[in-house]
Amino acid sequence: MAANEMDVFANEEKRNLELGGHVGFDSLPDQLVSKSVAQGFCFNILCVGETGIGKSTLMNTLFNTTFENEEASHYESEVHLRPQTYDLQESNVNLKLTIVHTVGFGDQINREQSYKPILEYIDAQFESYLEEELKIKRSLFNYHDTRIHICLYFIAPTGHSLKSLDLVTMKKLDSKVNIIPVIAKADTVSKSELDKLKIKIMSELVSNGVQIYQFPTEDEAVAEINSSMNSHLPFAVVGSLEDIKVGNKMVKARLYPWGSVQVENENHCDFVKLREMLLRVNMEDLREQTHARHYELYRRCKLEEMGFKDTDPDSQSFSLQETYESKRKEFLLELQRKEEEMRQMFVNKVKETEAELKEKEKELHDRFEQLKRMHQDEKRNLEEKRRELEEEMNAFNRRKVAAETLMGQALQGCSQQPFKKDKDKKNFFSLPSACSLTSGRNLN
Ligand code: GTP
Ligand code: MG
Repeated sequence: MAANEMDVFANEEKRNLELGGHVGFDSLPDQLVSKSVAQGFCFNILCVGETGIGKSTLMNTLFNTTFENEEASHYESEVHLRPQTYDLQESNVNLKLTIVHTVGFGDQINREQSYKPILEYIDAQFESYLEEELKIKRSLFNYHDTRIHICLYFIAPTGHSLKSLDLVTMKKLDSKVNIIPVIAKADTVSKSELDKLKIKIMSELVSNGVQIYQFPTEDEAVAEINSSMNSHLPFAVVGSLEDIKVGNKMVKARLYPWGSVQVENENHCDFVKLREMLLRVNMEDLREQTHARHYELYRRCKLEEMGFKDTDPDSQSFSLQETYESKRKEFLLELQRKEEEMRQMFVNKVKETEAELKEKEKELHDRFEQLKRMHQDEKRNLEEKRRELEEEMNAFNRRKVAAETLMGQALQGCSQQPFKKDKDKKNFFSLPSACSLTSGRNLN
């Protein structure tokens, strides 16, 4: 079918027809509900707040159960995140709930980078969902979606306003996740202080351009309650697992010497408002916003980073195949360029090494020549010395022969004279040894 023909069909007005009787497609919403119920739901909550601010207690109070609770120490060298997943069931609805706690948040001296691990965690969940989406064999139907649907940001009740750590962290997270700020341990401040604190926090968030989650007001059914709840933000909450008897009912409360703070009493705190908004009215909207707004933004940026785009500069539609081909070409060219660069580098290196080797060889050769000359000089000197020594030896031998001849003659002279006295006899016997001694000394 030609493109202009299709345009004609698209522009054609739709006609309303009356049905002759019951057809049955009005059961479609019921089909959807039963399919969703059979499939189950997942909901992921991120609790960001200082160590010991009451994150675990609030989660336990919210879901009316006791989750695993490991107390964090105040001496963590950096912030890390601890996710825990639970399977919960209410009536016939299954909920896979993941609660992620920040561990060590606000405990470091330098808190400039405290938001980073949180941001990285949120991105990592988006990334694994995107990877699943881009797989050839996708199984999104039974994929465990770990993307964060809501970030409960716990604000300390002490102080006059937000800390800079709170502002920086919320600012960094607001384009990645739905943020609901809560004032923790609201029972520790008076009502008038709490009201002032709420106003101050909201004005600081607005003046710093921090986007917090707004309960949707488009749907008429929830518009009224949601818009009134938007004006109660940030919720001042109290958590407790202690049950006390009020009248003939058991209620969750915190007990003090002067009385009790009831968690579910709306005059005492905003816990009920938070539970209503989070779990009973807007859970699906939070899931939808996560997918349609935050994940969509992440996906768009990621795909653009990878070189994909929907339209080229001339607004011609761009096919995935073309994008892949052009990206591949770009990659191959880059690879070629890199290869050439490396080859050139290698050649230069070889040339440099060759020149160095030549230099070394020349140095060695010079040194060899110098040693050779020294050796020849030495040899010549030794030759000279040897000649001198030989001459000395010859002269000595000549002297020795002359001395021996003289000695022989002297001995002959001695043997021809008679012995006169005993003294002479003694001299006679000592003579040869004296002669030999003399000759021996000469020899040496
Ligand atoms: P880490 O996981 O160790 O960072 O702590 P956390 O933020 O989970 O705090 P947790 O719920 O363990 O509570 C710490 C302490 O604060 C406990 O002694 C709680 O009883 C107390 N606490 C929790 N919620 C409240 C609250 O609403 N009001 C008051 N006054 N105390 C609370
Ligand atoms: Mg905890």
